[in-house]
Amino acid sequence: MDERQRDLQLGIRTTGIREWKNEDGPYNRYEATPYLALDQLLKYYSFFEDAHLVDFGCGRGRVSFYIHHHLEIPVSGIENNDRTFDELLTNETIYRRHNEHITAPLYFEFGLAENYDIQSNENVFFFFNPFSLKIFKRVVHRILNSYKENERQMDIIFYYPLASFKQFLDQTPFTLINRIKVPKVGHGKHGEFLIYRLTPDHHAN
Ligand SMILES: C[S@@+](CC[C@H](N)C(=O)[O-])C[C@H]1O[C@@H](n2cnc3c(N)ncnc32)[C@H](O)[C@@H]1O
Repeated sequence: MDERQRDLQLGIRTTGIREWKNEDGPYNRYEATPYLALDQLLKYYSFFEDAHLVDFGCGRGRVSFYIHHHLEIPVSGIENNDRTFDELLTNETIYRRHNEHITAPLYFEFGLAENYDIQSNENVFFFFNPFSLKIFKRVVHRILNSYKENERQMDIIFYYPLASFKQFLDQTPFTLINRIKVPKVGHGKHGEFLIYRLTPDHHAN
């Protein structure tokens, strides 16, 4: 089944790419995480029982809807491209119509990931190469501040990990706990998820 057919099953449209006018800017283009990769994530990664996922740079919402649909856990998504956000809201309307039985909250916010107020119950943070390392550091800083305010187990799920981002995460209190390879999706050596964990006995700097 191709990506469009997988979309149809969820009642959404998430295929394609959207570049920014300024391609050299700090914000990366829209492109959805491949469904094959998400299938592997569900197979090899166990979400916490009280997981609340945040997708930083959620685009048209593929990851959000997929996880909400399959696991029925709360999901929040933040997106700062206005056209992409409009498409996300259209997807949300149809998705909700198909999935009225799912009571877990689903929340989307238009804005910058680096300004997002992380809620004290949010504990799984998803990234698919949304922005520059400088912005990523600011977001991780906010995650660590949220941890200090309310110590809880937290995971970062990182798809398409670039070397500089890995090097940065290795200097934080997060520990790499898992690597899920997805060789068939055409992203070469970047076709993998890295899972980083922070556990409550660890003191964030
Ligand atoms: C590679 S796409 C990933 C989409 C989605 N997370 C997925 O995996 O299917 C990255 C998205 O991040 C958005 N983005 C880039 N910089 C952002 C920022 N500072 N705040 C919020 N969203 C941002 C882009 O517009 C794009 O839609």
